[in-house]
Amino acid sequence: MADDPRTPAPPPSTTTATSAPALRVSPPVPVPGPAPASAPGDLADGAGARTALVTGASRGLGLALTRALAAEGWRLVITARGAADLAEAARETGATALAGDVTDPAHRARLAEAAHELGGLDLLVNNASTLGAVPLPPLAAYPLDALADALAANVVAPLALIQATLRGLRERRGAVVNISSDAAVGAYEGWGGYGLSKAALDHLSSVLAVEEPDIAVWWVDPGEMRTRMLADALGEEEAAQAADPAAVAPFLVDLVKRRPGSGRVIR
Ligand SMILES: NC(=O)c1ccc[n+]([C@@H]2O[C@H](COP(=O)([O-])OP(=O)(O)OC[C@H]3O[C@@H](n4cnc5c(N)ncnc54)[C@H](OP(=O)(O)O)[C@@H]3O)[C@@H](O)[C@H]2O)c1
Repeated sequence: MADDPRTPAPPPSTTTATSAPALRVSPPVPVPGPAPASAPGDLADGAGARTALVTGASRGLGLALTRALAAEGWRLVITARGAADLAEAARETGATALAGDVTDPAHRARLAEAAHELGGLDLLVNNASTLGAVPLPPLAAYPLDALADALAANVVAPLALIQATLRGLRERRGAVVNISSDAAVGAYEGWGGYGLSKAALDHLSSVLAVEEPDIAVWWVDPGEMRTRMLADALGEEEAAQAADPAAVAPFLVDLVKRRPGSGRVIR
């Protein structure tokens, strides 16, 4: 997140993407081979024959993205722990909803199976995330059990979902979107636990991009958004100043449609 302006860090170096001025894509590592091709019926089509799995889809950015993908005709499998909010999202979007925790291996297996049953996965969006300890503590006092929980939700679960769906993603020349944060690269007081988990997510994404030339991998800093996560971190009043996630979701849909080569993306 453009998380906490108290201790600004130097901005990461980026390059300007080809056609969407608000999105910058910067591959920090050389990704061998050509960018995965878009072809008629490919991800760029968005004509309704494609399937996405979105985690953390019951509110915030995940819900906004689920709505935006549904409007583009995507078939959707969605998840979050809170069953009532998730069911409401499914009712609204026509998505297949499976309530559960992404840190639960059995739940992840059910998600992968549900995507397979819908015809195979084209897009995995690892969006579900936790702040870790709240209020945000300095690293000197960081409770290590909360750090382990953050790593389980923000790093291990996304990689496990990638592993569970990778064969189909390769076959379908699909894509992975890992939702990161500027806390992955900026040194913000109090954001160390969350930030190191997002840094690990960025790093696994960059290595995955090198290892998996048949899929596109984007690790995305969506910028500050007025969601429960930001309110939990900064308070309702400050969070209310941030962007509406409904205004951020179209950037992600556009990314998927344009399908640039793998890399870090900053809104
Ligand atoms: N908001 C910002 O300013 C900001 C800035 C930069 C990056 N981000 C990133 O953007 C993404 C979306 O965040 P947000 O702000 O939209 O947060 P949010 O409003 O708190 O939504 C988080 C979603 O993830 C779900 N979730 C959390 N832990 C889960 C788990 N263990 N298993 C399954 N679902 C889980 C939540 O539902 P349940 O609680 O019901 O499970 C909810 O649907 C995150 O990756 C976050 O790190 C946010």
